[in-house]
Amino acid sequence: MSVICIDNDKSKIEKLNNDIIPIYEPGLDKLVQRNKYYKRLRFTTDVESAVKDSDVIFIAVGTPAMENGEADLNYVVDVAQTIGKYINEYKVIVNKSTVPIGTGEIVKNEIKKALKHRNVNYNFDIVSNPEFLREGSAIYDFTHPDRIVLGLESEKAANIMKEVYRVLYLNETPFVITNIKTAEMIKYASNAFLAMKITYINQIANLCEKVGADVHHVAKAMGMDGRISSKFLHPGPGYGGSCFPKDTNALYKISQKIDEPITLVGETIKANENQKLKMALKIKEAMGELKEKTIGVLGVTFKPRTDDMRQAPSITILNELAKYCVNFKIYDPEGLKEGKVRLEKIIDKIVFCKNEYEAITDVDALVILTEWNQFRIMDLKKIKQLMKGNYFFDFRNIYERKIVEQLGFKYYCVGR
Ligand code: UGA
Repeated sequence: MSVICIDNDKSKIEKLNNDIIPIYEPGLDKLVQRNKYYKRLRFTTDVESAVKDSDVIFIAVGTPAMENGEADLNYVVDVAQTIGKYINEYKVIVNKSTVPIGTGEIVKNEIKKALKHRNVNYNFDIVSNPEFLREGSAIYDFTHPDRIVLGLESEKAANIMKEVYRVLYLNETPFVITNIKTAEMIKYASNAFLAMKITYINQIANLCEKVGADVHHVAKAMGMDGRISSKFLHPGPGYGGSCFPKDTNALYKISQKIDEPITLVGETIKANENQKLKMALKIKEAMGELKEKTIGVLGVTFKPRTDDMRQAPSITILNELAKYCVNFKIYDPEGLKEGKVRLEKIIDKIVFCKNEYEAITDVDALVILTEWNQFRIMDLKKIKQLMKGNYFFDFRNIYERKIVEQLGFKYYCVGR
C-alpha cells in the first residue's frame, strides 16, 4: 500500500519532505523516514493528482470548536468539495476527523453537488472511521487499537476498508461495522465518557481531601472491578488537549440542540473548568499573599510526550495566578516553543528556562502540572537547596508525601 499525504500548507509539506516533523510525537520521525525510504509514503500539495491517484481518500482535517462550542465543519466541507472537483473514478472517502453526527451525509452531498456541477457521475462510498489514538503514544495506539470502527453503507466499501486494515484484521483486532451515524456517535460517546471518568475521579479526589481518604487507593480498588477498569482514573488538574474539551462541548451542543441534553456531559465540562481553577486556589490558599512571589512551573503541555498546548490546564491555572502579580519560571521538555506563544500573550512576568533545576532556582514554590518522566526522578535534595521557599505542589501526584515532607517541603497534591 502506498500513502500520499496532502496539505495546502506549503511550509508543512516542505518540512515533511525534508524529514522535519512539524509536531513532537515520539517515534514519528523514524517511521516517516523509513516509509519515505521504501517509497511507500510521500507528501505533496498537489491535491488534484493525489485525489486522482488514490483509491481510498481519508479526510483528516481539524474540526475546531467555534465560539458557541459547536464543531467547525468548514475544513471538512472544503475537502469534500475538493474531492468532488477532482475524482475521476470510484473512490472510498473515509472520514477520520471527529465530526458531529450527520457529517457523513454532508460530505456525501458536497461531493454529489461538485459532480453535478462538473456534469459527471462517478460512484463513491462514504465511510466513517473514527480514530482513538492518543497524542504521545500515537504510533503504538494506532498499531494496537482496541477496535476498528467502520461506519459504511456498502459491501464494496467494507471489503476495501478491511483490505486497508488487513494487518489488524489478520491480527484479530475486533472490527465494529455499523452505519455512518453510529460510527460518528461512537467517537463522541467514547471521548465524552473518558472525560467524564477523569472528572469523576477528580471530584472523588477533591472529596477525599476533605474527608481524609486517599484517592490513589480508591482509584486502584475501583479499577480492579473489571466493569470499571483502572484506565483514565488518574486525578489531576483537569483534562485538556485538542480533543476532550472540544468533543464534550460539541456533543453537549448537539444534544441540547435536538432537545435531548446529555446533562452529565454538561456537568463534566463545568466541573473540569472548576478543577483547573481549584488548583490555582489551592496555591493561593496555601501561600497566602502571592504578590511578587515566584513560582517555578514544571510542565505546561496538556500531557507528557507532546508539545501540544491546546486547552492545557496550565493556561487557565497560570492565567488565574497571574492576577495576583506572580512571577513565573517555566520549564517543559518539549512545550517551551508553543508555551511561549500561548503564555506570553496572557502573562507578563514569565521566564522560560533550560531545565527543571533552573526553573526552580530561587522560587517560593514549585508546581508540577505535567507528569513528564524526568520530573518523576528529580533530585529533591538539590531542589530544596536551590529553592527559596518550600512549597511543593504536585498536581499529577507523582511523589510520595512522606518522602517530600521529610526533606522539609510543604507538600500539596490532588486527593491524597
Ligand atoms: C484523547 C483520547 O484518549 C483518544 O482515544 C482520542 O483518539 C483522542 O483524544 C482524540 O479524540 O483524538 P488525547 O487527547 O491525545 O486522546 O490524550 P489523553 O491521553 O486522552 O489525555 C487527555 C487529557 O486527559 C490530558 O490532559 C490528560 O492529562 C488527562 N487525563 C487522562 C487525566 O487527567 N487523567 C487520566 O487518567 C487520563
